[in-house]
Amino acid sequence: MKLTMKTFAVIALLASAGAIAGTLEHPFGQNSVFSERALEERIAPVGAVCVEGEECGSAAAAEQVASGPRSGSDVYNSACAGCHASGAAGAPVVGNAGDWAPRIGKGMSTLVTHAVDGFNAMPAMGLCMDCSRDEIKAAVEYMVAESK
Ligand code: HEC
Repeated sequence: MKLTMKTFAVIALLASAGAIAGTLEHPFGQNSVFSERALEERIAPVGAVCVEGEECGSAAAAEQVASGPRSGSDVYNSACAGCHASGAAGAPVVGNAGDWAPRIGKGMSTLVTHAVDGFNAMPAMGLCMDCSRDEIKAAVEYMVAESK
């Protein structure tokens, strides 16, 4: 075989590529930012998939403890205060006894039903679509207690 400049260049290229790959394999040991483990950590998915019935680690367990029904004041502050703190759209203002006295007179169960199903400009569930009926009830109880 006649060794032309072109084949020589290709061989030289392959040789240097191999040398570079060789040095890159473990340039700074197992714990460096280039290590395989570090790479796996960097490309790992953000949330680990967890099959029901399997042990999913302490983070998932802690989350379960933290969840559960939100308090009336929590629901009020996150879902209801937007209208009921200012009186937007004619909403009865929490803390204003005059606004609430005639409503309280309707009875608690009517108020809860109106909060859950909606009532005129009062939107169903106060637009809190992940609220349970009990959480809405707790929020109404909180609003009434704050407005007497
Ligand atoms: C988009 C604005 C808005 C949001 C958000 C909102 N409300 Fe209201 N709400 C109103 C308005 C307006 C009224 C007055 C309706 C009427 O009397 O015609 C009202 C009335 C009520 C009443 C009195 C109903 C009655 O029968 O007199 C209750 C109870 C109530 N809201 C609870 C809630 C709760 C609980 C939340 C949060 C989960 C909430 N609201 C979120 C606008 C809102």
